[in-house]
Amino acid sequence: MNNSTIAIRQMFFDFFCSKGHQMLPSSSLVPNNDPTLLFTNAGMNQFKKMFLGMEKAPYQRIVTSQRCVRAGGKHNDLENIGYTPFHHTFFEMLGNFSFGDYFKYDAIRFAWELLTGAQWFNLSQEKLFVTVHNTDDETYTIWAKKIGVSPERIIRVGNNKDNACTSDNFWQMGETGPCGPCSEIFYIYGEQGLDSLSSITKKDRNQCIEIWNLVFMQFDRQNDGTLLSLPRPAVDTGMGLERIAAILQNVNSSYEIDLFKKLIVNIAKMIGTNNLNSKSLRVIADHIRSCSFLISDGITPSKEGRGYVLRRIIRRALRHGRTLGINEIFFYKLVPLLIDTMDKSANQLQCQQKFIEQVLRLEEEQFSRTLERGLILLNEELAKLDGDVLDADTVFRLYDTYGFPIDLTNDICREHNLRLDEAGLRTILEAKRQNNRLIRKDSLIATRNNSVLRTHYDHRTRFFGYENLQHKGKVISLFYNDQSVNTLFHGTKAMVVLDETSFYGESGGQVGDQGILKANSGIFEVIDTRKYGDIVFHHGTLKYGKLELGEQVATQVDKIYRTHICLNHSATHLLHAALRQVLKPHFVKQKGSLIDNKHLRFDFSYHEPMKPEQIYSIEEIVNEQIRRNLLIETDVITLKEAKEKGITKKIKTENSAQKFRLLKIGDFSTELCCGTHATHTGEIGIFQIISEFGIATGIRRIEAVCGAEALKQIHYKDSLIQNVAKLLKCNTQTLLNRVQTVYENSKKMKKELQKLRNQQAMQQSNFLLESSRIHDFNGTKLLVSQLEYLAPQVLRTIVDNLKNQLGRSIIVLAASEGKKVNFIVSITKDLVDQVKAYDIINNLMLKVSGKISDGKGKPELAQAGSKSACDFQLALKSTEKFLITRFRMKFE
Ligand code: ALA
Repeated sequence: MNNSTIAIRQMFFDFFCSKGHQMLPSSSLVPNNDPTLLFTNAGMNQFKKMFLGMEKAPYQRIVTSQRCVRAGGKHNDLENIGYTPFHHTFFEMLGNFSFGDYFKYDAIRFAWELLTGAQWFNLSQEKLFVTVHNTDDETYTIWAKKIGVSPERIIRVGNNKDNACTSDNFWQMGETGPCGPCSEIFYIYGEQGLDSLSSITKKDRNQCIEIWNLVFMQFDRQNDGTLLSLPRPAVDTGMGLERIAAILQNVNSSYEIDLFKKLIVNIAKMIGTNNLNSKSLRVIADHIRSCSFLISDGITPSKEGRGYVLRRIIRRALRHGRTLGINEIFFYKLVPLLIDTMDKSANQLQCQQKFIEQVLRLEEEQFSRTLERGLILLNEELAKLDGDVLDADTVFRLYDTYGFPIDLTNDICREHNLRLDEAGLRTILEAKRQNNRLIRKDSLIATRNNSVLRTHYDHRTRFFGYENLQHKGKVISLFYNDQSVNTLFHGTKAMVVLDETSFYGESGGQVGDQGILKANSGIFEVIDTRKYGDIVFHHGTLKYGKLELGEQVATQVDKIYRTHICLNHSATHLLHAALRQVLKPHFVKQKGSLIDNKHLRFDFSYHEPMKPEQIYSIEEIVNEQIRRNLLIETDVITLKEAKEKGITKKIKTENSAQKFRLLKIGDFSTELCCGTHATHTGEIGIFQIISEFGIATGIRRIEAVCGAEALKQIHYKDSLIQNVAKLLKCNTQTLLNRVQTVYENSKKMKKELQKLRNQQAMQQSNFLLESSRIHDFNGTKLLVSQLEYLAPQVLRTIVDNLKNQLGRSIIVLAASEGKKVNFIVSITKDLVDQVKAYDIINNLMLKVSGKISDGKGKPELAQAGSKSACDFQLALKSTEKFLITRFRMKFE
């Protein structure tokens, strides 16, 4: 057998295709519309709705090789990378799935045949053992009686994580969602085998590696932990491609398989190291894979969510680079090496190579300084450390003040056999956690809606709103407080589901419709429309009467609201096409959009801010297409036709029965789109970009307006200019010159003012030197005095002058005007280890009333102010007295 990783993946496909499975492509690493999940972490993710019965599976038997990332979220292996031989942040999961077709017996039979069959993987049965859930007698009996695995090779596990298998044999995708008992197949490494399978010790664990997990999906876990039965039991299996490759290639770790070996050797060559077993090299090889695939799936480094995890992985790799002695920007240079080691599964990397490199390079450039400084500071702290725990304050300070990530500190400590004070850190990070809680709340709301949906999975709403804004529909569900109810009464906020509607449910960046549902004896005002799966939810309030299940309602979409959305949506397509004309098309990839009745927003990949002339050209091109009054039309096409036209990017299904909407704007733009649109571009009227800015590394956002909103924008700018002209007493033609003159004048005046202030300060200083009492304690001078009110800057110049004259001295001044007083304390450098300026000013401020700012500043200079310090003279006197007593003792 050809045992290259690529051949193994192919054999997996061949085997399951021979068993009637349909092969489908891997889905993106960014889960489609699933806020409960950070990254795609298993082959079953793309089929979640099909497991839950919310969507029909395109085939009953499916086989895939899914790219997965397990870094963050429920399944997180990031910390293990570099420490264990078989964990990766990025890996491929081979899986076969059954939706209401075969169940336990066939899933087990197939797995065993592929693993042990002579024409397939041909593994010795002696090398394998299996686990089952302790309550799952059926699976136990299948293994023992039907497959013929001897009972000592079948281990029952349950809620007991302390066995060799580390799993509880119950698999679930996240905190909520599809789940069920599972049966795992393990491979025993080494010549010897294990003495006793029934009592595998922790030590033995290193010898056993889980290769395949067969999950029998039976439940949907709810937020409160309860398990609802799924409509149809299903099968989900997952086998790590890199793991099975390690076994079939007879190597001891998945880092030694062909793919990784080549990558590691190439990286080692590039950075000039010979130690191929270095932990850091493995970490870097692992991380360049996950980072490149994450970026190619549209994630860029950012401060939160997915982008933040990507940032953490990149930074971890950079740190290991430093450990290997690399002191220059290096990580992005590994992208071509990675592409070189992969097969066609890396096509998407190749197409986006430049973009991936750019994102990595930028991130590395930005982080390098932080990393260098942080490493120096951390090493200093570690050198001072007594004991084996690094205190929470230091960790937090490194993070908060110097931007040094906590997980890097943790990682480094772990290498030195040290720990962080995690409890202390938890307390300090409380505020941050608050933030995360908000994010989690969003996900909960989304899952709650899923569970509402699950009980009604056989419903779907047919949409008629492309052609008509008015339609008729029957009420098939009513939800009040997330509970299904039969009747809604006057004044209740609720959700209404109809069998047919003309309301567009938010999707594809376009917001949902507003309008009313008119029943026989009630009116429901719709303020938003959302789509979950195939069901449209009308959110709103029953304004009048009552509404009952089964009633017919007239659906009336708010025409003006919808029309504005349509104009903005069509303009978004024009903008997209224009962007691709003006900027290079391979750089511009759509990353998101939001279209409502007021404006449109378009996010896209691009490596630098757009220049004003590029923005103008885009506006010109879009407005030209508007003036051409192009016809906007939609073709409904099949999957086959879409493939023939080469438009498959947005298509996430292989279901040949599904139809797609192809939106064409004259000869200018063609895009798949399920949104609603104008009929001719002329209706848009006018298009104007109002802002362009970066939202994450390599991602720009354009905000724009159309029609009446654009006109408002033009009027706003115009009146702004008129008002400025009026204020400067000129007309709009001469405005620029006038502003220039005013600006030059103000610069001149500032200079003059400064000159005057300096003169004033000089006079005041001389006056003080002549008129105030200057105490002299063996050459250390003390001057405490008061002046007329002066601006704080002048006070600073005065004390500088005085210091120059007096030498070693302490100066305390108050400048007052009525009750308003500014204070300043200045101390020459040679005195600061005896006394600090901020201590004196704080002391002074304790004695005055109405202070507006605490004394703050440096040991040599501190300032403070008060709005109503009528008692300030007393305070000055007492401070003077205090200082005299103190200095007498010290200096005389
Ligand atoms: N979904 C299962 C897993 O990831 C197969 O282990």
